[in-house]
Amino acid sequence: MIIKTVDLETVCGVTSRLPENTLPEFAFAGKSNVGKSSLINALMNRKAYARTSSQPGKTQTINFYNINKALYYVDLPGYGYAKVSLEAKAKWGKMIERYLQKSAMLKMVFLLVDIRHEPSANDKMMYDWVVSNGYHPVIIATKLDKLKRSQVPKAVKVIRMGLGMEKEDILIPFSAETKQGREEIWELIEQAAQE
Ligand code: GTP
Ligand code: MG
Repeated sequence: MIIKTVDLETVCGVTSRLPENTLPEFAFAGKSNVGKSSLINALMNRKAYARTSSQPGKTQTINFYNINKALYYVDLPGYGYAKVSLEAKAKWGKMIERYLQKSAMLKMVFLLVDIRHEPSANDKMMYDWVVSNGYHPVIIATKLDKLKRSQVPKAVKVIRMGLGMEKEDILIPFSAETKQGREEIWELIEQAAQE
């Protein structure tokens, strides 16, 4: 995909109204620090347009990036961030749920998991929840550069098993460092945006 323009068009806080967009949306979900904003930067061909941090809990709003005036990348706050109060967690859980349930233009949900770890109970819950809302989440196994190539097949198997993925469900190993996997993700997005 050739990126001509990127524009952080809407930023939603926990009490904001969600935008009623008319372009297809692609959402990126996953636990805090898994690499959602880094993936979005890679998909925008920008180094740091979406803010990233080694401290979990960087993205605390729902950010809508208008891409080429043709579609949106939607950067969601991470779940499982320990330092946030239970009340804040519950509010954000509701907000993310509301977005995933209500958005008329949401075409695809990317669920990110760290390739080095077995999916957590939260990952599994999110996966099941997305499925129960009628989507087939595309799994992105992030931080691929942190594994030796020989470790990848086993790690992929552990994630597929852990989430209870079907054979035909898509899992793409990805690295924001090397950009490996980016073309494949772009292809999925371009295809779905046209449907
Ligand atoms: P929240 O906004 O807190 O939910 O986190 P996030 O999922 O947006 O994660 P973010 O993109 O901010 O990345 C978290 C940390 O992981 C940063 O220090 C990134 O540089 C690092 N990181 C993200 N992706 C990769 C990757 O593919 N490889 C490596 N080595 N580090 C990565
Ligand atoms: Mg983020």
